[in-house]
Amino acid sequence: MLAPNPRVVFAKRPGTGLPVPGEHLVYDATRSIDLDAVPLNGGFLTKTLMLSPEPFLRERMRDLSVDSYSTHAVVGAPMVGFVLAVVLRSEKEGVNPGDHMYGLSHWEAYTVQPYMEGRVDFKAGNYPDWTGDTDSLIKLNAVPDPQGKYPWSSYFSVLGGPGLTAFCGLEAYGNAKKGETIYISSGASGVGSVLIQLAKEKGLRVIASAGSDAKVEYMRSLGADVAFNYKTTPVAAALKEHGPLDIYWDNVGGETVEAAIQYSRLHARFIMCGSISEYNLAPEACYGIKNLSLVFKKQLRIYGLLVGEHMTSLGPRFFTEVPALMAQGRLTVRETFTEGLENAADAFVKMLQAGGAEELGKPVVIVAKE
Ligand SMILES: NC(=O)c1ccc[n+]([C@@H]2O[C@H](COP(=O)([O-])OP(=O)(O)OC[C@H]3O[C@@H](n4cnc5c(N)ncnc54)[C@H](OP(=O)(O)O)[C@@H]3O)[C@@H](O)[C@H]2O)c1
Repeated sequence: MLAPNPRVVFAKRPGTGLPVPGEHLVYDATRSIDLDAVPLNGGFLTKTLMLSPEPFLRERMRDLSVDSYSTHAVVGAPMVGFVLAVVLRSEKEGVNPGDHMYGLSHWEAYTVQPYMEGRVDFKAGNYPDWTGDTDSLIKLNAVPDPQGKYPWSSYFSVLGGPGLTAFCGLEAYGNAKKGETIYISSGASGVGSVLIQLAKEKGLRVIASAGSDAKVEYMRSLGADVAFNYKTTPVAAALKEHGPLDIYWDNVGGETVEAAIQYSRLHARFIMCGSISEYNLAPEACYGIKNLSLVFKKQLRIYGLLVGEHMTSLGPRFFTEVPALMAQGRLTVRETFTEGLENAADAFVKMLQAGGAEELGKPVVIVAKE
């Protein structure tokens, strides 16, 4: 059966600005695929159900002259990011039609796996083989869901990259003690929303910020003790009132880090997870932090986090402890859905802007129904 096989192509590097749908990311509806006859070459054919527009994809779009933790996206190839897919046909042992798979794959309707073109090849050691397989997709267990509250898309939030990042960062570097105070910037993001809940599980007092009043309410509903809108309340003013901090979790970078340094305690831990306020800026346009001398004066511990580094050591605990919390209904997940592959580029660009994704929860793009 011949079926349309639309895809989103990475057409042009965006330089230092925001990517523009239609220019840098182009929806291409010209392709088709024979679902019954396409050769599998020992692999398997997947139908993409959902994809996850995530900040690290912006890093992959950087100029070729800039080195970083991930390889460069390939101009002319489909975007590659985390997808949830269902198997239609298989020649691979252990993979069967109907299996749900999660991992890195093309932003397209149907893909013969393992995909080749534009394959993400995280540098050796940074992204260990957590599947026990050389393919990029892992077979999923059903979501642990005795109470019927967790959809498959939980694999893009609490059970996937954001949840893993929150869990690994807090366990590896938090050294959290009951009653301590953590400040989480971008607290309504995929990472932030899981982290608020994991921090509460550890008995921490949680301060969290986000870019809208609705997100402030959302963060409170997740357990944040203090939640504020950084667009209407300066971060420094909020931390002066509600600090000092024992742990700062940085998702945004820039001036927010300066405020956290100012209002941290002696020996506070800084977990540097991301700096989304700077992903679309030239280096000279980024905020220059002015109080770095406080790092030695307060003997701050600053840790750079890349989740891949912790997969081997902490992955097994994550895959045991987090599903157990879910089975007890102790983790709330929320995703915001965009319908259609043709809208994936818009959802991605919206997420990259301060307060841009006004809907609550981790952005997820629905590509097809099962
Ligand atoms: N180190 C790692 O291994 C790792 C792994 C995964 C993610 N991360 C990082 O974790 C952070 C959150 O990722 P995610 O996948 O959870 O994100 P997400 O759910 O897609 O949410 C991104 C949010 O960032 C906020 N934002 C965007 N531009 C901003 C700006 N200029 N200033 C302040 N906030 C801005 C927006 O919320 P507001 O409405 O609050 O502005 C947006 O909704 C990112 O920095 C990401 O790069 C790191």
